[in-house]
Amino acid sequence: MTAVSWDAPLTAVSSLRLYALDMQTPTDRIMAAADTALRTLFATPHASGPCQTLPGAPTTLTDAEKAQSAGLMRVNHVGEVCAQALYTAQALATRNPALRAHYTAACTEETDHLAWTAQRLQDLGSRPSLLNPLWYAGAFGLGLIAGRLGDAVSLGFVVETETQVGAHLDSHLQALPATDHASRAIVAQMRDDELRHADAAREAGAAILPPPVQALMRAAAKVMTTVAQRV
Ligand SMILES: [Fe+2]
Ligand SMILES: [Fe+2]
Repeated sequence: MTAVSWDAPLTAVSSLRLYALDMQTPTDRIMAAADTALRTLFATPHASGPCQTLPGAPTTLTDAEKAQSAGLMRVNHVGEVCAQALYTAQALATRNPALRAHYTAACTEETDHLAWTAQRLQDLGSRPSLLNPLWYAGAFGLGLIAGRLGDAVSLGFVVETETQVGAHLDSHLQALPATDHASRAIVAQMRDDELRHADAAREAGAAILPPPVQALMRAAAKVMTTVAQRV
């Protein structure tokens, strides 16, 4: 297995992960997935570039506005932790090398979101969710189950997840303080990227998930967003 320095930026590691997850033995793939989990939860992620801030006069946020933004950005950071877990698990579960590469490339793009939301939380004087290991484990388990149900279902799970996240981010654009241009720019960019991820999965042959499954996913997301905003 390729030796990767613990201090290497997550973006650089992500490109190595494309290689690592494509290696032959299941043990190598499991080790690469464990590496991603540790980096997502405990290392500082690095974006491939900064998120462009929306135009607007610079403003100073009040303490109440900062707290409001921090709660919402903590939820969005949890969503990105879950995205790392889901894509990594689905890459691990599929037996299709092309689909594995697709998931791993998407996971690399999600690293930008992870880094931007983590940095924004820090800039707002706040912290990530204390329950991130729990969110990661839950999402990883769901990703493995989706992956084991076959590629079409697994892609359908991506379509539904990314579509729900896109709608959720739209609601955050309404809820964020109008003067928090930095957070709004990140959320707007993420919303566009997530909807593009949904389109890509649809084009790759996604099945449409049954409405009860979609409803269950919405209910699980509601629990996560409610808890993560506070804890
Ligand atoms: Fe994302
Ligand atoms: Fe996404």
